[in-house]
Amino acid sequence: MHMNLLAIIGSPKGKNSNSEHLLQAFLRGAEEAGAQTETVYLKDKKINHCNGCFSCWAQTPGKCVHEDDMSELIQKLRYADILVMATPLYVYTVPGLMKDFMDRTLPISLPYVYKYGDRYVHPGRYEDQHRTKVILISNCGLPTRQYFSGLQETFRLWCSGPDRVMAGSILCSAGPLLGIEQARPYIQWYLDACEKAGKEIVSSGNMTDETQAILQRELLDDTEAYVNNGNAFYEQLLHEKMPDMSKWTDK
Ligand SMILES: Cc1cc2nc3c(=O)[nH]c(=O)nc-3n(C[C@H](O)[C@H](O)[C@H](O)COP(=O)(O)O)c2cc1C
Repeated sequence: MHMNLLAIIGSPKGKNSNSEHLLQAFLRGAEEAGAQTETVYLKDKKINHCNGCFSCWAQTPGKCVHEDDMSELIQKLRYADILVMATPLYVYTVPGLMKDFMDRTLPISLPYVYKYGDRYVHPGRYEDQHRTKVILISNCGLPTRQYFSGLQETFRLWCSGPDRVMAGSILCSAGPLLGIEQARPYIQWYLDACEKAGKEIVSSGNMTDETQAILQRELLDDTEAYVNNGNAFYEQLLHEKMPDMSKWTDK
């Protein structure tokens, strides 16, 4: 079956981001399995903040007061079978760029509320809206995956209506390693699993348990070494010693 895959990159670093490495691996697999893919870099788009005026619900149904790139993106969103949201973790959630994009999807919902299972949701505005499978791809700077909990919850709820279904997530700790060439031999296994995930999601709708289990591992087992190396890097760059933190930790 022909599959339309829309990838949205929410990193302000665009193509130079760590998110890009994860996404490109995923897309390689997805394309191999036959998906037609398109990638949008939000940093290159003009997306104003949502005003919260609800004009798109009440005054001009389906149309936002802002005239910017979001109207074109909403059209793409409507016809995506698979939506890949690739984003760094900022303050335990999405960066403002990605949040603006998500806020501005309001016009594709109707103002009415109905009960869907045990949840209250807004109906989709368009009859021909595809049932979109959503994949969350994220990476964070800290060395463990526990910091993704808020982001995961946001996406679980964002996908609780019938028109958006969460189909998997790839949450990568120690993300800055993705952009370091010398680290590549040690982390290639993770990118290989991303590629497999892309292939599996397009061909069967889900990742296998095996691929999921690989992607749920920390990128680096030795979290202490990652932290120490990072600190040493900044000490050298800034010609100073990291402050003595024992007065806080000894309490
Ligand atoms: C403003 C800001 C907030 C951040 N907040 C977090 C955070 O809450 N937790 C974390 O582990 N990393 C945090 N990071 C680190 C980024 O997630 C990390 O650098 C990531 O690799 C960036 O991905 P990208 O290259 O795809 O943009 C933050 C970075 C910035 C610039």
